[in-house]
Amino acid sequence: MSDEWVRIAAPATTSNIGPGFDTFGLAMNEPSDILEGRKIDSGFKITEVSGPGSEGIPTDPKINSVTIAAEQVLKRCGCDFGIELKIKKGVRPCSGMGSSGASAAGGAFLANILCGGKLSLNEIILCAAHAEDVISGGLHADNVSPCILGGFTIIRSYEPFEVTRIEPPKDLGMVVALPDIMVATSDARKVLPREVSIKDLVFHIGNASTLVYGMMSGDLGVISRSVKDAVFEPARTKLVPFLKEAEKEAVSNGALVSFMGGSGPCIMSFYDANTDIGNNIAEKVKAVYTDNNIKCDTWVTRPGTGCKRI
Ligand code: HSE
Repeated sequence: MSDEWVRIAAPATTSNIGPGFDTFGLAMNEPSDILEGRKIDSGFKITEVSGPGSEGIPTDPKINSVTIAAEQVLKRCGCDFGIELKIKKGVRPCSGMGSSGASAAGGAFLANILCGGKLSLNEIILCAAHAEDVISGGLHADNVSPCILGGFTIIRSYEPFEVTRIEPPKDLGMVVALPDIMVATSDARKVLPREVSIKDLVFHIGNASTLVYGMMSGDLGVISRSVKDAVFEPARTKLVPFLKEAEKEAVSNGALVSFMGGSGPCIMSFYDANTDIGNNIAEKVKAVYTDNNIKCDTWVTRPGTGCKRI
């Protein structure tokens, strides 16, 4: 069997966003992974992997997020064909920009199209979250949810799975800086404390609730005041050299707030997209790393849509 190629784009995402560890996520307008797939008689074949970090991406379907997620979709749909895939990464793995989430969500989204669109968006998310669990050593759907649904997403519960999507403010500008440092999510999860204090719990509930209000009301001031993390970023700061210097540089150049994206190492800064300061923030954060002989890529972007056929 050979069939037409289907091509999709799966966006980068940022997760946690201060207080919302494993619950909040936000899709970016760019960069995106591009996946192409077509039906074959049986099994999975990855015939091409390109883009940043592609040299480290396994082509063995048993350990690749795209195919692990796609296989879940085929099982749920009761489809008995296989899939040949070509993967073009838009963002490298171990970046904190939802690279494995884009692979997993993209693989599930693409497989669902090949299966005739049988699954709901929530079911696609669960197939993708399974791949995240296998690859990153922990069930978290805070990257795959915005990658499928777009916008800002909140996971209320994993069992049963319940996710809500909110349209973020149009003027929420995002600057992402990705230094040439690798942080695997599985490693970043190992440094987290097993328990949190009631004081930190109260702090997170207050900030998380208010951040949701900020996203809904479109108040950038409320958003920036609520991106606070008393537990997770502090435990992970040691994994990302110059993190605090980079965040400080972003804020002193006009960013509303700056924080570790996902499990790092990327540095995410929010700014008012009605201004034109995004490129300058990007340059200044980048300089923190290049001045220390560490290469750093940047993107000036906005919230975006979820996976789409292109
Ligand atoms: N919420 C996850 C974590 C996201 O912080 O470990 C990883 O990208």
